[in-house]
Amino acid sequence: MKVEINNKIPTHFSEYWPAYYDIFSHYEETLGIPHALFLITTLKENGKPNICFGGWGSFWGDKGGFFALIPVMQKSHTYANILRDKEFCVNFINYSYRENCWNTIKNNDEELDEMTVGGFIEEKPSVVSVPRIAQAFMSLECTLESEQDISKAGVNSLIIGKVVHASVDIDYIDGLKKFDKDGFMFYHQELFHYLQNNEGKRRYSHLKLLDD
Ligand SMILES: Cc1cc2nc3c(=O)[nH]c(=O)nc-3n(C[C@H](O)[C@H](O)[C@H](O)COP(=O)(O)O)c2cc1C
Repeated sequence: MKVEINNKIPTHFSEYWPAYYDIFSHYEETLGIPHALFLITTLKENGKPNICFGGWGSFWGDKGGFFALIPVMQKSHTYANILRDKEFCVNFINYSYRENCWNTIKNNDEELDEMTVGGFIEEKPSVVSVPRIAQAFMSLECTLESEQDISKAGVNSLIIGKVVHASVDIDYIDGLKKFDKDGFMFYHQELFHYLQNNEGKRRYSHLKLLDD
């Protein structure tokens, strides 16, 4: 048996909070396609570092350049910072920093230095002026190439950054480490947490369907 899903949100799909499906497509968590999580660093208007836990991105390139394609919420600080300064860094950290990442979401005021809030250490960038994260095993320095509200819903925008420099921990440049437990943190690990912690009350929609 296969569960068929179309563009209409089935009425029995439960929201985690009101207007949840304004921000997330019902396809996203139902499908649970794994992708790597990262921290986007930018600078706030007051000069303090800002961190955004992100994971809706992909990375692609050809001889014209290598690009970070990341949907960013238009209401986020990150969106405003990137449009203003036209640069950002993408930092890949391992799963042991999951709580640190969440702390940057829970403590998100304009006045806060989110490096301190998250327990991260600033690392000097090579090309851009936005700090990298020292604990990251890999960081990409990016300049803004384009921004587009693909769905035209006024919720998220696809930010495309051109990678102008990359920095990789020497222990990760070769071999299997970045694909092992100290390597990339994946979105499906976050989804697994949702599923595990909710005692069945906030399940994936398709599991609810199977229960019906
Ligand atoms: C697992 C996970 C992945 C996320 N991915 C993104 C993302 O790709 N883009 C985005 O704008 N927000 C994403 N978020 C939400 C942001 O982390 C959150 O809104 C953050 O507080 C924004 O910070 P800022 O306002 O300082 O930019 C994600 C959150 C989680 C928990």
